[in-house]
Amino acid sequence: MTNDVLRVHGGLPLHGEIRVRGAKNLVSKAMVATLLGESPSILYDVPRIRDVDVVRGLLELHGVKISDGPDGEIIFDPANVESAGVDEINVHAGSSRIPILLCGPLLHRLGHAFIPDLGGCHIGDRPIDFHLEALRQFGAIVDKTPEGLHLTAPNGLHGTKFQLPYPSVGATEQVLLTAVRAQGVTELRNAAVEPEIIDLICALQKMGAIIKVSTDRVIEIEGVPTLRGYSHRPIPDRLEAASWACAALVTHGDITVRGARQVDMMTFLNVFSSIGGAFEVDDSPGGGIRFWHPGGDLRAVALETDVHPGFMTDWQQPLVVALTQAQGLSIVHETVYERRLGYTSALNSMGATIQVYRECLGGTPCRFGRRNFEHSAVIAGPSKLHAADLVIPDLRGGFSHLIAALAAEGTSHVYGVDLINRGYEDFEKKLAALGANAVRT
Ligand code: EPU
Repeated sequence: MTNDVLRVHGGLPLHGEIRVRGAKNLVSKAMVATLLGESPSILYDVPRIRDVDVVRGLLELHGVKISDGPDGEIIFDPANVESAGVDEINVHAGSSRIPILLCGPLLHRLGHAFIPDLGGCHIGDRPIDFHLEALRQFGAIVDKTPEGLHLTAPNGLHGTKFQLPYPSVGATEQVLLTAVRAQGVTELRNAAVEPEIIDLICALQKMGAIIKVSTDRVIEIEGVPTLRGYSHRPIPDRLEAASWACAALVTHGDITVRGARQVDMMTFLNVFSSIGGAFEVDDSPGGGIRFWHPGGDLRAVALETDVHPGFMTDWQQPLVVALTQAQGLSIVHETVYERRLGYTSALNSMGATIQVYRECLGGTPCRFGRRNFEHSAVIAGPSKLHAADLVIPDLRGGFSHLIAALAAEGTSHVYGVDLINRGYEDFEKKLAALGANAVRT
């Protein structure tokens, strides 16, 4: 058994090349979609991360036969989808948010579904009210019990008109995965339109689904009675790519992220440039984006996180580490999750000067302004970071702790690093390839 602690000798610039694979937040959903097909699906370039293992385990429990091909290829055969025991499913309780997305596909295939208590990162309340309301409107009956959710659809699932109170990624996926085989037409308003969602729509379209993405966040889905399997190469992981970009900046390094695509990262690249980072896009096949610190002072910025095409909430944490090195006061207003700035106290223990506020700083008021959550941060820089002992709080906050330790002077111990495997494939090997001095103790 490995020890869950990394000893990091900071202060070395990270230099070199790494590669990102299919986006975690698409791959896991595309895996769920395989349940809807009558024939096998093939997904390419799947990263070896824990979220993939969790979904794989759940699909196997429900009778999907899964086999591995070369280089991240996975084949899913849903010919014998079957019910799984509550106790077996419960083994996965608390380990991921994805199980909630099995509702629609299982209702279509089996007429009933059991979903265990959900997990995922603790970055806000993360309710599932939009999901359940949508499922009810399709005709599902939801019975909440202490062990989880039991769902049935005695009269089948029927197309509906539904308006999301907020463009939730997960709830949009819930509606898509349910509507594609529901009877009739579904109109979803105020839908999320993240690139990962558009890519899920592409996979569903390959399966035979009819989905129209209109302007103003409206998605129309015409239900069809059967779907086939897909063969799909996912979009690259733009969250991982941005994390490595920030690692290059904060360590004064130079990292080429093979597989990263400009079109998915335009908003990030604007901010990266405006604070003084340099990048170069190679859009030939096998290309990527090179990110580096060009020397000189980094500049402060004011930004807020938002749904696509805004600045992603998952880009915020590594960027804040870079902003500790920028000259002046930066403002970051987190508008997607109400508790996604907790990781900053560890950065302060390393010498950063970050103050968090309950107010909506920087202009636009958001949902959290009147609800007493510390969701705005002012970062004063530049600060010299020094080593500390850190405990990883969640996936993205954890990666930001790690890059702060890599930039800091001295030797840090980072506890709980296994959590990073949830979303970053082979991150220790990648660190080694980039010349970091980070070893398990
Ligand atoms: N919300 C509700 N009710 C719901 C669903 C969502 O109030 O029923 C609220 C949430 O509490 C949150 C907001 O809506 O305040 C947005 O949540 P959303 O549903 O969009 O997030 P998610 O689907 O749970 C996915 C990603 C997150 C990413 C967000 C935003 C996956 C597995 N997770 O979460 O990724 O931050 O979208 O883009 O796709 C990560 O990768 O580390 C991660 C947390």
